[in-house]
Order: sequence, then structure tokens, then C-alpha cells
Amino acid sequence: MKGIILAGGKATRLRPLTKITSKQLLPVYDKPMIYYPLETLLNAGIKDILIIIAPDYAGHFLNLLGSGRHFGARFNYEIQEEPRGLADAFIVGENFIGKDSVAMILGDNILDHDFSDAINSFKSGALGFVKEVPNASAFGVVEFDKNNKVISIEEKPEKPKSNFASVGMYVYDNRVIEIAKNLKPSSRGEIEITDLNNVYLKKGELKVGIIEGMWEDAGSFDSLLRASQIMQAKAKEMTD
Ligand code: DAU
Repeated sequence: MKGIILAGGKATRLRPLTKITSKQLLPVYDKPMIYYPLETLLNAGIKDILIIIAPDYAGHFLNLLGSGRHFGARFNYEIQEEPRGLADAFIVGENFIGKDSVAMILGDNILDHDFSDAINSFKSGALGFVKEVPNASAFGVVEFDKNNKVISIEEKPEKPKSNFASVGMYVYDNRVIEIAKNLKPSSRGEIEITDLNNVYLKKGELKVGIIEGMWEDAGSFDSLLRASQIMQAKAKEMTD
């Protein structure tokens, strides 16, 4: 299983912070944001990792993370010239993925969940994860039937059919590359991960697990601050 951290984009929502660096390099308590998704992949046993970054500040990522040797891993880098959508990661990452399966995590998603079992038992199809939230319409929303089978997945619906928000961690078999290449851009001009997941859903090959631990998409001022406060509280707990 290979791993991708998608850490590109322009992060205009976080200006002026992101006028001088990339969102994924901003501090979350005592570490740059990208350390958290990186640790999530490493803790799940994934050591061969592609980091997809925007052209601006690409050198900062290299300075910070290097070859991966200090993390006991191997890092590769690709530049995504324009933010063409989350599913574009599998097109940019085609050569890196090769013939393998791939887990992708978003560079601004901070999760306290151990994905090892899910990764180790993954065979084929697509696997997503959700968490129950009060504001599901800000995310991809997954609807389940009473047997926990996925019925629908919608990107930021006005009227969400459930409270289960799709978190930014996904696992796919190798078909993901071809499926991504055949997606049509959405009304916001991006190839959407939700459309990709819907292709697997139509084939009956999308599974979705529910996670219990903390999750923050640290892409706004409030969630960035919240993520720092949560990590500070956790660090205090460990030293007390
Ligand atoms: O955080 C989970 C949510 O992430 C999911 O619930 C949604 O289904 C999914 O579409 C996504 O929604 P966002 O609105 O949060 O996506 P955003 O456009 O903010 O992109 C997420 C991260 O990926 C962001 O840190 C920048 C990076 N990115 C984004 C795009 C569109 C890239 O590196 N390249 C891109 O082309």
C-alpha cells in the first residue's frame, strides 16, 4: 500500500497567514500541520509516501521533510500546478502509485484514529471514513441504510441526508487512476473525490467506516485554533 498526502491548493481562506507560506506548514500547537497526516499514515504502517504540493513554497516542504529517512520512511514529491480537485491526486500520482493500492490523506486533516486494521485488511474497491458532526453540510455527506450499507454520498449538500461527514482519508485499489481520469469537473471546476467515490458506490464496491476519535479539517481560522488547543490538551495529559 502506497500513501499520498495532498498538500497543495491556494488556501485563500487563511490569508494573510498563507501569503508567506503554505497552509499545511502552519503551526498546529508544536508542529507544522502536515506532521499530523504524515503520522497518521506512518502509524498505519505506510512508509512509501508521495507528498503533492503547490509550486509556491515547494522548497519549504523539502527543507522540512527531506527524503523521509528521519521518519523511517521514503518521501517523494510532485507539484500540482493548479488545484484541479482532490481526485487529481491520482492523476498527478500515477507513476508513483504504479500497480499498487493507495491511501490518500488530506494535508489539513488532523485525525486521532488508528487506520492499521483497515489498511491491513484492505483488498479491493474503495474505503472511506466518516465521523458524526453537527455541521455535515460543510463536507461530503454519507447516508447509510439500517444495515450500515452506503446509500448515497453527496458533496456539501444544502440539506444533508445524515450527520456523517466524510473525513479526508481514503483507500483505493489501482483502478482509481483510470476512474479519476474519466471524471468530469464539477460546477466549481474541480474533479471531486465525491464523484470518484460515487463511481465505486455504483459498482457496489464502496465501503465506509465510522471513526470515533478527534477530527479537524484545519482549513479555517477557527478550526486551526481548535486543532492547536486539542493538541495542547493532549500533550498536557501525557505529561501529567
Ligand atoms: O476535509 C474533508 C472534506 O475534504 C470532505 O468532507 C469533502 O468531501 C472533500 O471534498 C474535501 O472538502 P474541502 O472543501 O475541505 O476540500 P478543499 O478544497 O478545502 O481541499 C482539501 C485540501 O486539499 C486542502 O488542504 C487543499 C488540498 N487541495 C485541494 C484541491 C482542490 C489540493 O492539494 N489540491 C486541490 O486540487
